[in-house]
Amino acid sequence: MSDLISMRDLSRNDVEAYLRHAEKMEKSLRSSSPPKPRNKIVATMFFEPSTRTHMSFWAAAERLGCRAISLSGDKSSSAKGETLSDTVRIMSGYADVLVLRHPLEGAARLAADVSSVPVVNAGDGGNQHPTQTLIDLYSILRLKKKISGLSVHLVGDLRHARAMRSLLYGLSMFGAKITLCSPKALAMSDEVVREVQEKFSPSIRTTHEINLRDCDVLYVCRIQKERFEDQYEAARLQDEFRITKEQISAAPDDLAILHPLPKIDELPADYDSDPHAKYFQQASWGVPVRMAVLDRVMGV
Ligand code: CP
Repeated sequence: MSDLISMRDLSRNDVEAYLRHAEKMEKSLRSSSPPKPRNKIVATMFFEPSTRTHMSFWAAAERLGCRAISLSGDKSSSAKGETLSDTVRIMSGYADVLVLRHPLEGAARLAADVSSVPVVNAGDGGNQHPTQTLIDLYSILRLKKKISGLSVHLVGDLRHARAMRSLLYGLSMFGAKITLCSPKALAMSDEVVREVQEKFSPSIRTTHEINLRDCDVLYVCRIQKERFEDQYEAARLQDEFRITKEQISAAPDDLAILHPLPKIDELPADYDSDPHAKYFQQASWGVPVRMAVLDRVMGV
């Protein structure tokens, strides 16, 4: 049994094993023979809002024949001052795996240090969102059959979005050609870029202009307003930062648009039914991928 805290902890072999397992899980969801019940308890502990991560982990647990229990951060005794360490110690006595989302960077690592059962990082502040990256890599493979050599543009709030940080790591590991595109104030941290360059030597281009002429996968994220000190600045950037239909129409015909969601208004409003828009499909792959995550951390 092991934790899943950061993409940094995974080798390419580990990631490929997760993705193969997810494919099996996706097939099992389509077949009439569901997986043998695991009879484990999965505890979700969310100290920040979530729709997809929380509900798809819950659905994944149910699909695996596990039971799910849920601790909602703002209704827990943390409101009375209980520390995260104590809460995690208690919950690890109630469940076989803990799925934790928390606003503080490093919270999942701290939880793993004190938990007696595996911990899955469901997002820690602006740091890491490894299960989202597994879904993103799975989606790219399902849509494009490969990752190596693809031109992938990461566009949006690259400074604060944990999904982008984790994905930069995953794409670099698999040899994608990466373009980082953000408003100037929201560029990816130099430290994170340096780290992947030293480790994987990927092709990374940084720009503040959206130009999709060579783009195979456009991966967009919203302005992460909850991470801004100044909400006026967040609103200004949200207003300024929009991808237009003209920019998308310059891309190759088989462009795939992905987004970790939730989306606000960074994409054209009527794009959801456009054939390039794959983000709802991407979100639905969250269930088989998270089934694979639960299985592997529980040692099934
Ligand atoms: N992509 C993602 O993490 O969405 P939620 O915040 O709704 O879980």
